[in-house]
Amino acid sequence: MRKKIVAGNWKCNTNLKEGIALASEVEKLYTQSGVKDVLTIVSPPFVHLTEVAKVLKNVKLSAQNCAAEPKGAFTGEVSAEMVKSTGAEFCIIGHSERREYYGDTNSILAKKVKLAMANGLTPIFCIGEVLAERESGKLFDVIKTQLQDGIFFLSAEEFGKVIIAYEPVWAIGTGVVATPAQAQEMHKFIREQISLKYGKSVADSTSILYGGSCKASNAKELFANPDVDGGLIGGAALKAEEFLGIITAF
Ligand code: PGA
Repeated sequence: MRKKIVAGNWKCNTNLKEGIALASEVEKLYTQSGVKDVLTIVSPPFVHLTEVAKVLKNVKLSAQNCAAEPKGAFTGEVSAEMVKSTGAEFCIIGHSERREYYGDTNSILAKKVKLAMANGLTPIFCIGEVLAERESGKLFDVIKTQLQDGIFFLSAEEFGKVIIAYEPVWAIGTGVVATPAQAQEMHKFIREQISLKYGKSVADSTSILYGGSCKASNAKELFANPDVDGGLIGGAALKAEEFLGIITAF
């Protein structure tokens, strides 16, 4: 079901105590705001999930990643089943930092998507082009391939549960935000690709989030676009008041 969504991706930030405090503050501000129609999600580091789950009621919980294997001799990995057992309901998969620094290819990501879904987690599947790909006009091909190889193996029914996040890599953590027109152009293209693959009704009911230097002061103009259903937020999710400013920007 297409929803307005704001998801905070804390990345490798906050120790356990700070993480619990931040989650508690987000929960408090969100609840006090009276906003009911924006699905609000926080994604702390793995080791915080269990404790953060205890302080959340109205705000939902996500992991930032999961293993590409179900279990076994994979030192340091955290499986989708483990994530689910903490109380998390969502899992970010395919963030550009995972793709760039940890070798998460489209085929590895497809395995992660499969395992997340099999364990009842909703994937927040990230796609996005780097600057050189945009400048050379390859951006639409890149996005198409990321969708086709990473997630379009799902059935229409399965895909109906997924959240897509368009995060142009050049906008992540740089302070350079996509213009509302650039975001809308790509979100529309993504929805068209979903429609070609799964049909219009699945495409119309998919939430497509924008990510990349989104903050309280620019969220309104981004979210005003017809195909932008919310945001995946990095830096601005680390301050509860700023994050609330994004949640209330629709
Ligand atoms: P940013 O990160 O908001 O700090 O640019 C977004 C993301 O990586 O999800």
